[in-house]
Amino acid sequence: MDLPLSVVELGAQLRGEGKISPDPALWSDPQVFAAERERIFQRSVLAIDHQTRLAEDGRWFRCDAAPRSLLLTRTTGGRLHALRNVCIHAGYPVCDSEEEGEAERLVCPYHGWEYALDGRLVEPELSSRIDPARLRLPSYSVCVRSGVIFVGPSGADEAIEQCASAVPAWMTAATVARRTRYNTDRNWKSVRYFLQSSPQLFLDGPADCHEFGPLSLVFAQPQRAVLLRIVPKFAEQTDVHVIEIADGDGSHNPQPSSLSDGLIAQLHTADNSLSWFGRDIARWYWSLMAPGE
Ligand code: FES
Repeated sequence: MDLPLSVVELGAQLRGEGKISPDPALWSDPQVFAAERERIFQRSVLAIDHQTRLAEDGRWFRCDAAPRSLLLTRTTGGRLHALRNVCIHAGYPVCDSEEEGEAERLVCPYHGWEYALDGRLVEPELSSRIDPARLRLPSYSVCVRSGVIFVGPSGADEAIEQCASAVPAWMTAATVARRTRYNTDRNWKSVRYFLQSSPQLFLDGPADCHEFGPLSLVFAQPQRAVLLRIVPKFAEQTDVHVIEIADGDGSHNPQPSSLSDGLIAQLHTADNSLSWFGRDIARWYWSLMAPGE
């Protein structure tokens, strides 16, 4: 789809020398959100979770990752798969209510079609004249680096490798201390900026920030880390998934109990003036919406 006018106008401002004055529609217009879904979310590399979530063959979990729902599965020999959670029969989610589990097959609750954990349709048996590639759930690129599961669009292996090289090596043998989710009534760009600027909400003391695409980042210290996933739902609704990771058994440095209160309270009182959206951030956003222009 074409770029909405508010985005085009931002590009024009960037070509000039003046102050950047973003149109508030960038935070509220469903057309802008639709363009972002097509141009940013669908093309992004994502850090999804820690590998311990798929500790054994046969494990799976469901994961919201705008603009789609994914199924992460592990088959024989520790092979991981990232599958689109949309049944090829009639387009309903294959896994709807449960978040994770262990199974030999995933059974779509609507009409009972069954899939192997690598995405192949195993029931019903359809005509052998149908291209087998059409008889499976679409898949995405997936890999694990330093304990973190990364997913990207098909063919994004090189981009994933580039991102993944930044993960601290100690996270390979780490454990997950806690997973939490928050709903916000903010646009994803505001949420991202707020999270990126607020490592103190998650970790005491200095932390390195590693970004993995526009929708995931890790704050890391020598023995603790927090993986943050930003899940845009609508123009003015964004979820945040927080995965707290600790070295070894996670017994040192217990997590601050006030995290959830602090995060939510500060998200809702964060600066609404958009003054943070200066030239550097505008340039970053423009490079995602109109790469090469
Ligand atoms: S939509 Fe899945 S079996 Fe019909």
